[in-house]
Amino acid sequence: MTTLSDTELLDAARRAAEHAYVPYSSFPVGAAVLTDDGTLFTGCNVENAAYGEAICAERNAVTTMIAAGESPKVATVAVIGLKAAPCWPCGACRQVLREFHCDRVIVEGEDGQPVSLPFDQILPNSFGPDALEAR
Ligand code: THU
Repeated sequence: MTTLSDTELLDAARRAAEHAYVPYSSFPVGAAVLTDDGTLFTGCNVENAAYGEAICAERNAVTTMIAAGESPKVATVAVIGLKAAPCWPCGACRQVLREFHCDRVIVEGEDGQPVSLPFDQILPNSFGPDALEAR
């Protein structure tokens, strides 16, 4: 299994961000999702003239992972905003990443170095599939 460093994951996210479709915000974001079996999926944000239909980079990476029939377990997500560092995942993306058991998040710090946090620090006391299990 190929192992990727935090910097390599951020580089993959940056390459995806270069493809972002952001005519309305001019705020390109890229995400790289590494599964627990070592497969990498990337996504960028894709906006729409109906502004509310914009899709974030992280959610595009996750849906690509699922469409590929991958193990639905995210080990790590790396997120880059080309216009701002750090670029932490938005609330909606945190919830979607939580569904797929994301363990760790990496962003680029103000100094350009990777900053990494356990996922439960960015979404504590979260709601997940286990909450739906019958009592
Ligand atoms: N955006 C993302 O792609 N991911 C996030 O976690 C935060 C926000 C996008 C949505 C929109 O296209 C642009 O950034 C500005 O909000």
